[in-house]
Amino acid sequence: MASPWKDAVVVVTGASSGIGLELARHMAPEAKALALVARRRERLEDLAVELREKHPRLEVMVRPTDLADLAQCGAMIDDVTARLGRIGVLVNNAGFGDMGVFDRADWDKIHSMIQVNVTALTYLSQRVFPEMVAMGHGGILNISSGFGLEFLPSFAAYVATKHYVTGLSESLHCEGRPLGVTVTQVCPGPVDTEFEGVLGNKAGRPPPSIAQISAAKCARQALRGFARRRALVIPGFFMKLTMWSGAWSPRWLKRLIYLPVASWFRRRQLAAPLADA
Ligand SMILES: NC(=O)c1ccc[n+]([C@@H]2O[C@H](COP(=O)([O-])OP(=O)(O)OC[C@H]3O[C@@H](n4cnc5c(N)ncnc54)[C@H](OP(=O)(O)O)[C@@H]3O)[C@@H](O)[C@H]2O)c1
Repeated sequence: MASPWKDAVVVVTGASSGIGLELARHMAPEAKALALVARRRERLEDLAVELREKHPRLEVMVRPTDLADLAQCGAMIDDVTARLGRIGVLVNNAGFGDMGVFDRADWDKIHSMIQVNVTALTYLSQRVFPEMVAMGHGGILNISSGFGLEFLPSFAAYVATKHYVTGLSESLHCEGRPLGVTVTQVCPGPVDTEFEGVLGNKAGRPPPSIAQISAAKCARQALRGFARRRALVIPGFFMKLTMWSGAWSPRWLKRLIYLPVASWFRRRQLAAPLADA
């Protein structure tokens, strides 16, 4: 079976860095055209030069967009469709996290996170899904998170955005599948990208290295699952194991374990210098 992105017009959000950049690289050999979307134009231009050099028959469009602004999301979809044609694959990858106790969180950051992780992702999906259904093919690849399936104190609002992505993706998978449209969600654990810097790690400890994978590995496994029309992809052996054991653990037990973890996070954050608190 051909991959959903073969000879398709593909939109990749968050293509300026990390997982999105690698997804674009890995789809480039087969796609008809790629629209690269993020805010940092120079990063997208650099990637476009690289992809055009390696894949001369590929059409590459650079489309700087702030996905926190719904009007810009709409204009982006209009521009891509006008220039490249019908969108066959949408990759909703752009997103960011926020870490810290909720009573000290910055509302502007939370709001912007909900707009990018939730509102833009839903809006873009709703713009392309009807035509995919009408044509009987196409696909949406949503980059959720292990936090789409689990929870952890100090990540409350981020966890909530990814639970939304997981719920939407699984429901759409069931709606789309009988109609020929693939919706796959990816739930990675820690991936070595710029994510950690934007997150604002208040615990002062990096994620455990045993759990961390590269962006290229995450992209490869995501696309393998997408090509196989999977509903859910969990990249990396360690995360598969963690998610599997999480699925079998009762929620009350997780809450019991996370109570002292919440206190530990709070102590770490309050002990940090004021600027980081
Ligand atoms: N890395 C991890 O540990 C990890 C784990 C689980 C899930 N994820 C998820 O993976 C996805 C990709 O993250 P990553 O790890 O590759 O992090 P990253 O390297 O920081 O990349 C994030 C991408 O999102 C884009 N973005 C952020 N805000 C945007 C906005 N307002 N408008 C347009 N684009 C925006 C960024 O582009 P600009 O800054 O140029 O706009 C960038 O290209 C996210 O949805 C994240 O939640 C990451």
